[in-house]
Amino acid sequence: MAASFCDRDIISITDFSRAEILHLCEAGRRMEKLEKTGERNSLREALRHRTLSYMFYEPSTRTRTSFNTGMRELGGRYDGFSGTEGTSVMKSETVRDTVTMMCANHNDVIVMRHPLDGSLQWAADVANIPVINGGDGKNEHPTQALLDVLTIYALKDGRLDGIRVGFGGDLSHGRTVRSLSLALSHFDAVTIRWAAEDFLGMPEDLTRLLSDRGVRVEREGTVRDVMRQVDFYYMTRPQLERMPGVTQKDIMSMMKQYRIDVAKVEGFDVRVLHPLPVNSEIAEIDYRVYFTPAQAFFAQAEFGIFLRKALLHEMLAAGGYRRYDGRLPAELGIGNNRLPRRIRGGKQSGMFIDKIHDGTVIDHLVQGSLRTVSDALDLENRGYSCTTATIPEKRNPFIKTNLAEPGDRDLKTIALLSPEPTIDAIAGGRIASKFVYLLCANTNCITRVVNEDVPPRFYRDNGTVRCRYCRRPYTISSRKVSDEEKSFWTAGLPAGIQPVAYPDDTFTERVTAH
Ligand code: NCD
Repeated sequence: MAASFCDRDIISITDFSRAEILHLCEAGRRMEKLEKTGERNSLREALRHRTLSYMFYEPSTRTRTSFNTGMRELGGRYDGFSGTEGTSVMKSETVRDTVTMMCANHNDVIVMRHPLDGSLQWAADVANIPVINGGDGKNEHPTQALLDVLTIYALKDGRLDGIRVGFGGDLSHGRTVRSLSLALSHFDAVTIRWAAEDFLGMPEDLTRLLSDRGVRVEREGTVRDVMRQVDFYYMTRPQLERMPGVTQKDIMSMMKQYRIDVAKVEGFDVRVLHPLPVNSEIAEIDYRVYFTPAQAFFAQAEFGIFLRKALLHEMLAAGGYRRYDGRLPAELGIGNNRLPRRIRGGKQSGMFIDKIHDGTVIDHLVQGSLRTVSDALDLENRGYSCTTATIPEKRNPFIKTNLAEPGDRDLKTIALLSPEPTIDAIAGGRIASKFVYLLCANTNCITRVVNEDVPPRFYRDNGTVRCRYCRRPYTISSRKVSDEEKSFWTAGLPAGIQPVAYPDDTFTERVTAH
């Protein structure tokens, strides 16, 4: 079956099939051929009336400019922002509203980079045009992975099965290692070897996911141990901006024995890759390596142009455009993170404090969190009652308030300070409903930013529950929730990430005339 990228969001490399990755490699090689034969501009009519919007909340050289180059050579245009200074992000505009504005601006595709994990899935949910992930926090960078795979494919004459790749630098805080290793997991008999300090090592959840997907992952003691046994060594930059409190000096000492210098590559038939940039102060790759036959990272960067040009061509060459009407689907406001609990008896508990007739009981708070939760909610200043109580040795602290139906901002505020609170809605003096509010445990996930208003949502992925946005696994930890209640909630989750449906056809209608 022919691969089609028309109307597709590019969010995670795991959304691609092996056949689709190979299709893009071939398409990338065709762009390479045009370049080598002097036909750089031969497709300049292909995207003549198309515009790309770039939205870079984080610095970028290669990703942004290579998409722009692709667009330019295909006859399209581009516009957007590079860094948030000078945009209304400085006035606290949300991702939702900024993305919506880029759709209103008659763009055909968005390429976005943002520091929060899961922000690109959210952008894709909000936008009615295709969205390409140019890097979301420490989560994913799928087009980097595609260009990395294209580089390996080109340098190995199309061979990806049985490939042996080494990883070094910072495997923990970067997104390129996650995306490339997951891209490689589409191929057979792949081996990954890595050497790094514990703090910068391969994350547990990633190692598990890779093993489940059939990749052999081995940790080695030294860089030379890795070099000896691999075809490619993929070095990465320590992501200082993602490690608050860690200094450059700390990193220099962690990196000492893991930097790549000439002595570490000498004698091996290995090509060194790097997504770039190299940090010139840490110099995770010594400049002298640049002049050895092992250096392949600048060629890799040009494969980025071929790959992105090919991808844009595949996504946008079909013609037509989407109309914008400013409406958002209601689905964007609704989470599936409220785990319903069974009501036993229905009477309000907590006989030592005043009962309320209509309002909310915020129950099962973590010991010691009562004060911070009630301060953060600031109920009294907002005109609501607030009674806090701890009944020693019997149960966790709770709060009673006459605020009925607290919104997601309130519930997130509570859950950030005291995970998995139980929320009892009180009506007519009785418990009308009871649920546990679940919030993704990844501290860098966009669903945890209160004023971004991203409704937390989960999905089932085989036996694992994952956050819809950052895709990290979630395990319910509350002991109060019975196995029956847990499985009832889990069974109701969607199996996989399904696109958000826009309310009516005119919003997504394709109009063919230019
Ligand atoms: C990378 C990124 O932003 O994730 N850069 C890139 O796109 N080539 C790598 C990095 O910043 O270290």
